[in-house]
Amino acid sequence: MTFTGKTQTFCLIGQPVEHSMSPTMWNPALQELGLDFIYIAFDVHPDQLKEAINGIRALGIKGVNVTIPHKEKVMSFLDEIDPFAQKLGAINTIKNEDGYLKARNTDADGAKKSLLDAGCIISNKKVLMIGAGGVARALCYMLSEEAEKIVLLDIIEEKARKLANEVKEKMNADIIGKLSNESTIEEEIKSADILINATPIGMHPKTDATPVPKNFLHPDLFVFDVVYNPLITKLLKEASEIGCETLSGLDMLVNQGVIAFEWWTGKSPNAELMKTKIIDFLGIK
Ligand SMILES: NC(=O)c1ccc[n+]([C@@H]2O[C@H](COP(=O)([O-])OP(=O)(O)OC[C@H]3O[C@@H](n4cnc5c(N)ncnc54)[C@H](OP(=O)(O)O)[C@@H]3O)[C@@H](O)[C@H]2O)c1
Repeated sequence: MTFTGKTQTFCLIGQPVEHSMSPTMWNPALQELGLDFIYIAFDVHPDQLKEAINGIRALGIKGVNVTIPHKEKVMSFLDEIDPFAQKLGAINTIKNEDGYLKARNTDADGAKKSLLDAGCIISNKKVLMIGAGGVARALCYMLSEEAEKIVLLDIIEEKARKLANEVKEKMNADIIGKLSNESTIEEEIKSADILINATPIGMHPKTDATPVPKNFLHPDLFVFDVVYNPLITKLLKEASEIGCETLSGLDMLVNQGVIAFEWWTGKSPNAELMKTKIIDFLGIK
């Protein structure tokens, strides 16, 4: 691909960004469609976030992905936030329309697309989610639109209760936050239809760990692990062994990018190519 004076820019802002997979999955997908864009990552210090956003307007950068630690704070510097992202309190994608910056959250949309594509029915189902951090926030808001009930567990009980109460109030949802321990998991999993691991448990290099003992799992569960390295975590392996439908976090990671790509370019990227590039980049199996 030759870059010229006409080449336009998409970027990621965050800190740190040197390990980001976004340029790795975006550039080959842009090139395959012959789109004259380049995607790069910028390390932005939190104290310079406002200047970075003004720089985006000044430089005419067409689209921006936003990652940790800027997903919440950046909202006050933008022109228009999608109502769902406003409720959720975090954005990850900005579209620059002649200096007017619109934002939305494609993490939630990407997770939903991944679950639906994998045949997971959310409507009227009971969800048991372990972990009440950043990814869990997007998932709780998304799931609360359709699920019958959500039970949210975290090793810090207060964290689970706080997020659950917020979602309950803003989404008028049936959601409760509790302390995560073996007895709560054993009790709550019995009536659950969907189990989600939204913690780093089982992630490389601690691949022998699992958030749920195998003997607690039952074949009627759909099991979604947000961890994508390894592709098949111990939780997913044990869940498939007992007959559960499963989904890896890689699909969510790719789909949040696919949705941003479509929003910015109006074209659908090759999602399989994006997935392969991440697998190669991380050397995951
Ligand atoms: N698929 C994707 O697109 C995608 C995107 C981003 C991240 N991820 C994955 O998602 C994971 C979570 O990311 P995040 O940004 O949400 O992290 P986070 O904000 O740190 O949230 C993780 C939460 O899980 C809690 N936790 C840790 N161990 C636990 C345990 N044994 N039982 C119950 N709760 C526990 C943490 O508590 P403490 O705060 O006390 O540790 C924290 O509240 C990452 O590790 C990454 O693998 C996936």
